[in-house]
Amino acid sequence: MAYQGIIDRYQEFLPVTPKTPVITLHEGQTPLIPAKNLSREIGGDAYEIYLKFEGMNPTGSFKDRGMTMAVSKAVEAGAKTIICASTGNTSASAAAYAAQAGIQCAVLIPSGNIALGKLSQALMHGANVISINGNFDDALSLVKETAEKYPITLVNSLNPDRIEGQKTGAFEIVDDLGEAPDFQFMPVGNAGNITAYWKGYTEYCNKGRCINLPKMMGFQAAGAAPLVSGKPIKSPETIATAIRIGNPASWKQAMAAKEQSAGVIDSVTDEEILEAYKLLAKTEGVFCEPASAAGVAGLIKYLKAGKMEKRIAKLRIVCILTGHGLKDPERAIQTIHKPESIPADMASLKKALSL
Ligand code: F0G
Repeated sequence: MAYQGIIDRYQEFLPVTPKTPVITLHEGQTPLIPAKNLSREIGGDAYEIYLKFEGMNPTGSFKDRGMTMAVSKAVEAGAKTIICASTGNTSASAAAYAAQAGIQCAVLIPSGNIALGKLSQALMHGANVISINGNFDDALSLVKETAEKYPITLVNSLNPDRIEGQKTGAFEIVDDLGEAPDFQFMPVGNAGNITAYWKGYTEYCNKGRCINLPKMMGFQAAGAAPLVSGKPIKSPETIATAIRIGNPASWKQAMAAKEQSAGVIDSVTDEEILEAYKLLAKTEGVFCEPASAAGVAGLIKYLKAGKMEKRIAKLRIVCILTGHGLKDPERAIQTIHKPESIPADMASLKKALSL
């Protein structure tokens, strides 16, 4: 049987029964790419570095793992409408899975601060897209209140089914490597994904599928790093709009993942994020969105500072690249020089190719 998505593959670890209507776009089974070139470039030769490219999910981000679960369970419970707040990816994913399920979807997004690709997805999938004059945190409190007062299902990561689905990313990594990695580097925004991965690794180990647990290395953008400063931030700012969040919903769970795994939650500057974003595209041919590069930026920062432990056997590092670069082509073009046009003749072409 062809691959049918994460619920089918990992049903024994998920809260589903044979009666659950599975709403799937065959998400998951994303590539785990060895990053030899990047490794050389960033002084990581003492490690085995892998990229888990979650941009290869059907809507181009890791949210699809959580959304197949959340929407399947919502439909099972008879929901006719789902709602979410989003910096873009959650709204794209919710809209797509709602379309697949034939139910309504409303999304609240911070006006002017979501990448165009994500907005176009939510619109194309027929969601009711509501742009608010506020940030993600404002949008999240509004949708929470709406879901409490009306028969509408919240599909942000406060919904435990989202976490259940997203933990399958950890399962896939263990299945591919034959063991959990030594370190996992990843971006942190609303903190659902770090919570989900940690749950995934611990559950898989408890079931005997792995022995090792990775150190969870989460990175926030410096202008939006409440988990690092220890207090919510009223006006978070970063070019990595996906993680422009000042008061993460899964605050406690993220700190628990950090503490239990002896990992870190730290920050990287926008410059460091853009540097990692460019390096990934140029050295590995992997185009992720800026927020996705925050984990790799963290790895570069820790390698440079000599903060990474070494062993004789190479330690294994997995970086989660959460979303696809094509979500935000405007940022890419702004980051790199746009090519000038030349006359359409051989002489000009020879000059342009330095022939
Ligand atoms: N990377 C990308 C590309 C994201 O879109 C997000 C979150 C994260 C990382 C952070 O994950 O919130 O689980 O810590 N995006 C949400 C959204 C907030 O609305 O699409 P997290």
